Amino acid sequence: MKAEEQEGSEGFPFIIRRAREEDIDQVMEVNLASLPENYWYSFYVYVLNEWGDAFLVAEHQGKIIGYIMNRVEETHDKVLMGLENELTERPGKSEGLLDAIRRRFSESAKVGHVISIAVLAEYRRKGVGSALMQEAINVLKSKYDVDAIYLEVRVSNTPAINLYEKFGFEKVRIIKGYYRDGEDAYVMVKRLKPVQ
Ligand SMILES: CC(C)(COP(=O)(O)OP(=O)(O)OC[C@H]1O[C@@H](n2cnc3c(N)ncnc32)[C@H](O)[C@@H]1OP(=O)(O)O)[C@@H](O)C(=O)NCCC(=O)NCCS
Repeated sequence: MKAEEQEGSEGFPFIIRRAREEDIDQVMEVNLASLPENYWYSFYVYVLNEWGDAFLVAEHQGKIIGYIMNRVEETHDKVLMGLENELTERPGKSEGLLDAIRRRFSESAKVGHVISIAVLAEYRRKGVGSALMQEAINVLKSKYDVDAIYLEVRVSNTPAINLYEKFGFEKVRIIKGYYRDGEDAYVMVKRLKPVQ
């Protein structure tokens, strides 16, 4: 991936590029300052080794100000493939639990999973989060050939939900008590391939 300088809003200059192992300390600082969901150093190394092309950082004047980390998974769950929406498609009265399960699961497919995205507070609302998401979508499509991309987000996290909706992600499921403090998560999905 070429790391060309971009301009966010009001001419704010930054670069989006693939993460390197020497960036991990700074990525951890961005994560710790931005989110209660934190990871060990070795987890970042693992993600970098496994799906490094989809681990991106935003750099401004030599400093890491944001990141996005993704992994690639196989799933049988049609909701995660962007083929079913649990929030809008309620099963018919006559449909039993087994029918619903059968309907919801199918042949496996490859999907991208956004593990984490964050931008340091002082650099937000300048287009950095959008640039990270756009490049992650490009890479997951072109290098990993995924059918869809999904993620979990706190139901109260309006800035992130707005960002994801801007990129065409849809709320498809609620996971009750997903976060350690008991908050629910929305699962949001963006389908990349046409539905056959
Ligand atoms: C979510 C996050 C990554 C967005 O980064 P960002 O660099 O500010 O994003 P952008 O400037 O590209 O904004 C993109 C869109 O996100 C939405 N958005 C961003 N901040 C917002 C806010 N404070 N309130 C409402 N919408 C917001 C808007 O739709 C915005 O588009 P617009 O500027 O055209 O209105 C950033 O707010 C962040 O790091 N939050 C803390 C970490 C976090 O919650 N991560 C997500 C975990 S699931």
